Amino acid sequence: MDVRPELTGAVLDIAQATVNFPQYDGLDSLKDYTKLYPNNWENILPDGPDAGAETNFTQDLFFSMERLSSSPYQVRRLNPSSDSVAFQVDDATAKTITGSTLQSLFSSGRLFYADYRDQKGFSPTNHYGAACDAYFYIDSSSGDFLPLAIRTNVGANLVYTRQDTANNWLLAKIMLNVNDFWFAQWNHLAQTHEVVQIAYMAAIALFALGTVVDQIFPFTGSSAQDYTTDYYKNKGSGRFQPNYFETELEARGLINSNVGPALKNFPFYEDASTIHDAIEGFMTTFVKSYYPTNRAISSDEELQAWVTEAQGPAEAIDFPSTTSTTDLIDVLTHFAHLASTSHHTVNTNELLDISSTLPFHPPALYKPVPTRKGVKNVASFLPPFVSVLDQFVVGALFARPKFAGSQRALLHMFDDPTMLDRMNPKTKAAAAKFQQQMQAFSSQVSAKTFDADGLSQGMPFVWRALDPNVAPYSITT
Ligand SMILES: [Fe+2]
Repeated sequence: MDVRPELTGAVLDIAQATVNFPQYDGLDSLKDYTKLYPNNWENILPDGPDAGAETNFTQDLFFSMERLSSSPYQVRRLNPSSDSVAFQVDDATAKTITGSTLQSLFSSGRLFYADYRDQKGFSPTNHYGAACDAYFYIDSSSGDFLPLAIRTNVGANLVYTRQDTANNWLLAKIMLNVNDFWFAQWNHLAQTHEVVQIAYMAAIALFALGTVVDQIFPFTGSSAQDYTTDYYKNKGSGRFQPNYFETELEARGLINSNVGPALKNFPFYEDASTIHDAIEGFMTTFVKSYYPTNRAISSDEELQAWVTEAQGPAEAIDFPSTTSTTDLIDVLTHFAHLASTSHHTVNTNELLDISSTLPFHPPALYKPVPTRKGVKNVASFLPPFVSVLDQFVVGALFARPKFAGSQRALLHMFDDPTMLDRMNPKTKAAAAKFQQQMQAFSSQVSAKTFDADGLSQGMPFVWRALDPNVAPYSITT
């Protein structure tokens, strides 16, 4: 376990945040929640949250672009030839917001959908959550990726758009964030941990009654366990080959789509592909320098025994028969991708940096989902101070700020002298090249800032989750 220094830091930071309580002015307003950050969290969040997270969260583009950066695993483009629309938005409202009807957005491949309806019916904790689904669209004049409508699917099943009052629309976005946080965190167990380290679930203590999940989420620990298992087994997150980086993004119509326009900005793809390409480059040299032919792969008895075990007793889902150098390069690249880029996009430092930042991302609502659109003070739905502290402790359990600049950072993924000493010169050279590429990319990521339009990669916040000198190279436990 790597968690001890972070816990010590969290204890100190909690003490400081408690001393600073008078500066939050009672957490009565959204603005008050932004006061939680200055002069606090120097151990667990030493550089503060992502730039823009506390100032720009009310912008629609902030909300929508999070679906293409800090939480990129749910949204998908609706394909007019194989999908249908999930709910209606009346023509007048859709036209006012987008210039088009819902049907016209759908048939031109500009309509996207995020679906969290499978969170309906879970056992509740003392907190609340909806089970939202939502539309996003590519704007025909600006090309921006923006939200269109959010439906709650509980209670009065209200549909919100930005035609509602600012408070109501903001609460709708927060309700979706609650569902998305639940999805992102439990799905990440299914999609990365369970695929990479199948025994992980046995060791995890998060789900126990009265612990982490029950304290800060809307649904219980056993619901989280069921949800994770469902995603792993039935909803595709446990599949091996179909979740290859580009294959999976193509399946959701986010890259190389044969309908509709391309996304103008796709920060997750932009950053993750740089790392993925470099990993693939290393694996290509590594595999080809040891296996000159496909025959060398198919006749390696130990390798084939491993594949047989993965496909058989280990019950890995859609694990490929590995009969060519390309197959093995893909398998190894995918393991490294899952354990690094894929994981750290939605977990590790990212929780405190952006995806659980308050006031926009509470892990649960602290008042029931409204049955009418009369919300006056959105802050009344947010966690009280004692729950804020719980939330920061949970974030701190997963954050690894002290790995920044250390040997545990992603750019050192293949930088293991004991391993490299036993490897051939081509592999050693490939490891050195990977490190150089990642060092250069780290310089780019750490230099990200807002442009003249107040945007970074087309977003009103600066997303640095995949800095290879900050994110770890492995799944942390
Ligand atoms: Fe994790």
